[in-house]
Amino acid sequence: MKNNFLKKVFSRKKETKNIFKPWNGLIEEYREWLPVSERTPIISLQEGQTPLILLHSINEIIGKNVKVYAKYDGLNPTGSFKDRGMTMAITKAKEEKCEAVICASTGNTSASAAAYAKRGGMRSFVLIPDGYVAQGKLAQALVYGAEILAIKGNFDKALEIVQEISKSYPITLVNSVNPYRIQGQKTAAFEVIDFLGKAPDYLCIPMGNAGNITAYWLGFKEYYQAKLCKKLPKMFGFQASGSAPLVFNKIVENPNTIATAIRIGNPVNRKKALQVKKESKGDFFDVSDQEILHAYKLLGAKEGIFCEPASAASVAGLLKVANEIPKNSTIVCVLTGNGLKDPDCAITNNDAKFESGLDPELRTIIKRLGFK
Ligand code: F0G
Repeated sequence: MKNNFLKKVFSRKKETKNIFKPWNGLIEEYREWLPVSERTPIISLQEGQTPLILLHSINEIIGKNVKVYAKYDGLNPTGSFKDRGMTMAITKAKEEKCEAVICASTGNTSASAAAYAKRGGMRSFVLIPDGYVAQGKLAQALVYGAEILAIKGNFDKALEIVQEISKSYPITLVNSVNPYRIQGQKTAAFEVIDFLGKAPDYLCIPMGNAGNITAYWLGFKEYYQAKLCKKLPKMFGFQASGSAPLVFNKIVENPNTIATAIRIGNPVNRKKALQVKKESKGDFFDVSDQEILHAYKLLGAKEGIFCEPASAASVAGLLKVANEIPKNSTIVCVLTGNGLKDPDCAITNNDAKFESGLDPELRTIIKRLGFK
């Protein structure tokens, strides 16, 4: 028996060696769609190729034979979708012989910018809103050796400052106003179509500065124009109720939400986002922090997917507008960031049982398990 098993294992090993196809990062994989040449020095951490996971419990809640998938971009090298844009932005900065980059960030951009900048041998400066960046993201920026300036002000103020600086000093801005960021991020839409074999009927996505919704739409349109899909999705963008400038079409002076990643009151890509809504016949909605946390817990405890609160806004939004979704629809919800980014939120918001201070005694533990 044991011998047979081992024989099987050894013979299989030979097969797997041949079928293993390495992934070389999204610039190499989608080279012909991106502004790079043979001479471009590519800075990559092999980002991209993140899974599209069927969400069984969400399907069950919505019914109507819908198929809801999560595009789990929290599985990128620094734990968020920002790596897609950053590999491009830093690669181009390197090509242009730039020595330092700068960004404003609610946390993920700074983590990603720092990682890729360092890999490319550059300095990275980040401006963050003091006290409003999740611990995991701050830890990353520190470990990747960013030079961090925390300001007494929100993300919008920080972005204003870095935009000014990059105009006058030799330092490249890597926020999503940098067009290479959008180029890199559009590959997520390519991956969705490559996986499904078609475009979904709906794309549900959280919005902050609205770079990502702009990038997805660009990616879908490019595949459509190249006849790699037959239709385009409706784009549904979601913002937290306390921070929803695009939903209510105004500037929010003091944005507030548990989803600190999207705590943005004056999105720099406002016009582009409104264009996406119009062109795709999509819509924007707000979701309350309570709705975000409900989806966050559901994804964790029912699907085994740990995302950060801002990411859960896409699923919270879908659940909110489920009545509008026709039967048999295919829907992709973008989960933009990994749950480990924000451990404080996880520890405060869960329905788990946690007993501490127990005696290390077999009988005690068996009893606690509910056995006699
Ligand atoms: N989800 C997460 C986890 C984010 O970090 C962000 C943006 C968004 C969604 C919104 O994406 O801005 O393209 O609409 N985070 C930026 C940052 C602002 O600094 O990390 P968007």
